[in-house]
Amino acid sequence: MLPQWIIEKKRDGKALTEEEIRSFIGAYAKGDLPDYQMAAMAMAIFIRGMNPQEIAWLTDAMMRSGHVLNTKSIKKPKVDKHSTGGIGDKVSLILAPLAASVGLAVPMISGRGLGITGGTLDKLESIPNYRTNLTEAQFISVVKKIGCSIIGQTSQLAPADKKLYALRDVTGTVASIPLITASIMCKKLAEGLDGLLLDVKCGKGAFMTTHKDARALALSMVRVGNAMGKRMAAIITNMNQPLGDTAGNALEVVESIETLQNKGPADLTEITIASVEEMMVLGRVTKNRTAARKQLEKNLADGTAFRIFREMVKLQGGDVRAIDDPSRLPQAKLKVPFAAPSAGYVALADAESIGKACVVLGAGRVRTDQAVDFAVGVSGIRHVGDKVNKGDPLLVIHANDKKRLADAQALLKQAYKISKSKPKQPPLIFERINGDTIGKSK
Ligand code: URA
Repeated sequence: MLPQWIIEKKRDGKALTEEEIRSFIGAYAKGDLPDYQMAAMAMAIFIRGMNPQEIAWLTDAMMRSGHVLNTKSIKKPKVDKHSTGGIGDKVSLILAPLAASVGLAVPMISGRGLGITGGTLDKLESIPNYRTNLTEAQFISVVKKIGCSIIGQTSQLAPADKKLYALRDVTGTVASIPLITASIMCKKLAEGLDGLLLDVKCGKGAFMTTHKDARALALSMVRVGNAMGKRMAAIITNMNQPLGDTAGNALEVVESIETLQNKGPADLTEITIASVEEMMVLGRVTKNRTAARKQLEKNLADGTAFRIFREMVKLQGGDVRAIDDPSRLPQAKLKVPFAAPSAGYVALADAESIGKACVVLGAGRVRTDQAVDFAVGVSGIRHVGDKVNKGDPLLVIHANDKKRLADAQALLKQAYKISKSKPKQPPLIFERINGDTIGKSK
């Protein structure tokens, strides 16, 4: 079948066969099918959608466009987590060693930040000399030794996605559930996992702004994972305000270290524990969630998880002196409080505006080839429900440039609202989709 006939079939709203999807994606990955045909297909999928079986074939074809990790030599249950990204989302840095501390293996391949959402790799690279580009053998060896490793995407991993994602970015075809599902899942499933937890962020600072859309994406990814023989769960979490008290690369590493030392903020600690609980159920290393939580709290309190993180940094070439003494991490020249204009309760701490302020400061990138400034960002973020006096810092801006500081201050004016009455505490987790609920989800 000619590629244009396959495009026409999808354009007319018909379901594609496995053979059609595999031949189309296979040809695109090899360079035998031009970008304009792939773009037309992406738009047809965007408008017409795909059924769950088509999405699973698309995911599998994209995964097989590259190398699938051979993790057979890792004997522990291999379970990872993927977050759709948010502001201040440093969960992976804490979660991977915490999950390793309870007998899971976490071979985590992470991405960089783009736009207002930060990336795990940028955060880790703020640790001097930390290597995110291990070879596959080194990566597996670190996971076998300590139970976790976090590295970056290699060029062999799902190359069809790399090409297609760049094309979607410039053809108005990013926000499509079948395309997002295949794009995320083809990379995660190439890690050779037994199970995967998805953290679908929902709110103003996230890709999915409504619960309905976040739920549809979560269910789509869970179905594809299940169809490919993986144990799957998802949590839908609140991204209307930043997670934790910092946003910005090195600042988030400091907060992750504190959380691993059991001194972290309550929201970040809770999301991390709730996530690893689900991972333990997926990996079958716990009797139930209550027992899992008890063990996780213990491993945070007694330093077990922190020691694994420190060891991971060491094995990946990072300077552990910066872990033992975080003042050795990159520091910004200017630290300027952003003051509350009146007394009352924080009613809005808008993740989107705070995220934009961080990008303006240089913590994030607008184009994939831009460098980031590890030192800048915001700390001491006050959250919805916090009581403040007039002039109290709502957060502290860390900047290296006066012009950028002024631009960030202008953006932050829209970030906060103070009310006289105490607002209702927003939920951290909107919904859990797991073995107990999947059958009941439409
Ligand atoms: N992240 C991805 O990797 N792919 C998408 O399509 C969207 C978010």
